[in-house]
Amino acid sequence: MKEFIQTHISFKDAALVFFTLLLLILFCQVVGFSLIIPLLLLFLGVHIFFLRKADFRLFLQLGLLLSLNVAGTNYIMQHTVIQPLFIPVAGFSMLVILLYNDAELAFLMAFVSSVITSLLLTNNPYAVNTRELFTGMDIMLILFLGNLSAVYTVKGARTRGHVMASGLYVGIIQVIAFLIFHHETDLLVSSDFALKYIRPLALNGVISSFVVMATLKVFETWFGVLTNFSLLELADFNQPLLKRLILEAPGTYHHSLVVSNIAEAAAEAVGANALLTRVGAYYHDVGKMLKPEYFTENQLGGGENKHDVLEANISRLVILNHVKEGQELARKYKLNPKIHDFIVQHHGTGLMYFFYQRALEDAGGRDSVKEDTFRYPGPKPQTKETAIVLLADSTEAATRAVEDPTPKKIEETVRKIINNKFIDGQLDECDLTLKEIELIALAFTRGLSAMYHSRVRYPDKKNGNDSRNQKSAEKSSPASPSAPTPDPDGA
Ligand SMILES: [Fe+2]
Ligand SMILES: [Fe+2]
Repeated sequence: MKEFIQTHISFKDAALVFFTLLLLILFCQVVGFSLIIPLLLLFLGVHIFFLRKADFRLFLQLGLLLSLNVAGTNYIMQHTVIQPLFIPVAGFSMLVILLYNDAELAFLMAFVSSVITSLLLTNNPYAVNTRELFTGMDIMLILFLGNLSAVYTVKGARTRGHVMASGLYVGIIQVIAFLIFHHETDLLVSSDFALKYIRPLALNGVISSFVVMATLKVFETWFGVLTNFSLLELADFNQPLLKRLILEAPGTYHHSLVVSNIAEAAAEAVGANALLTRVGAYYHDVGKMLKPEYFTENQLGGGENKHDVLEANISRLVILNHVKEGQELARKYKLNPKIHDFIVQHHGTGLMYFFYQRALEDAGGRDSVKEDTFRYPGPKPQTKETAIVLLADSTEAATRAVEDPTPKKIEETVRKIINNKFIDGQLDECDLTLKEIELIALAFTRGLSAMYHSRVRYPDKKNGNDSRNQKSAEKSSPASPSAPTPDPDGA
């Protein structure tokens, strides 16, 4: 939702809302819809602008979804023989929660949609069937409960099976709600009761699931949002860009995997979007694949460090460029702007300390070297997810350089890196709390300890050697170098 946050309400936005509502009032007058509809939209606008501080795009997108819902319902009632109770009303709430992953917004839209649809079903002369048994309040409550069950059961869905199951729950809840209103014995035993009311209310949840699966990709592309389904597609290592990363920069690929594992665990711990964090971490360093040999994780087999023969200023440019080149690759491969954010924000405005120090040494004094030129251009992380990847990136790089890493040493490193980032102001623009930062530190320590901890060397049975007297520990990770190496990634 962060992408919709407004900086201020412009006159243009206010005028657009005013004219949209005016058009809607005129439209309702012409086609005979209740003026409650524009009034509800007015309150929706107030909520989105003043309480959510979201911009006009979100209002337009929700307004469009709602208009399609109203137009579709009206069309089915006037021009088809389909019984109105078959109309997949819950599909609207499913779309909202899957597109925006925001339960509060989906709850609000579920209410608005239930009120509007019940008005259409009970006031429309074509909806004779529904008027026989329902009052406006009955049907509004039944639809609202169906919409609510859609919101809560489909939230976080990653598979089609999950969406289908949600449709089934919607049907069950609607039927239960209907029976609570109408459980008179003579009705229950009447021959067409089940056919006329129970069947459509039970089935319209599943129909909603089908409609959602058929249209989700369309709205996602149109609105430029990223759902779990697209995130799973992006997480596939057969994606062309990830395939290139694996082949051209295998060390960076391994680093990204470790970062994604610990970042995902931390995101889960603080209730952030874990899947988005994982996928963002996969792509955060794709820019390194154009010059992989300049980054330590790709200098395999103890190969020479390219930066040894370069001036600090040249190294600075090469390292800075991995963010810029990452952005260009993201544009070329048409990645969603949410993934771009991980590429541009994963270093924030952090200092490339190693090269800054080297430049100072080369210059022989502080005055001639400006610290700002050795900082990444930013911006600083704007969301919890990008902030977690920034922290995971730096802690992973620092932990790799720890000699004989024990859980205690790893915890000290994690806390030191997180403190440094906090003091440097890198977390100033995201909404992580101190309590959440503590949970992130614990999740990182747990994950990194499992991956990089020292382990006891067991006796070599084959040669009959008892290595208990040998070095007691060795590093378990192939990524752990034998000597601490400053990370040229600027961490
Ligand atoms: Fe990086
Ligand atoms: Fe990285």
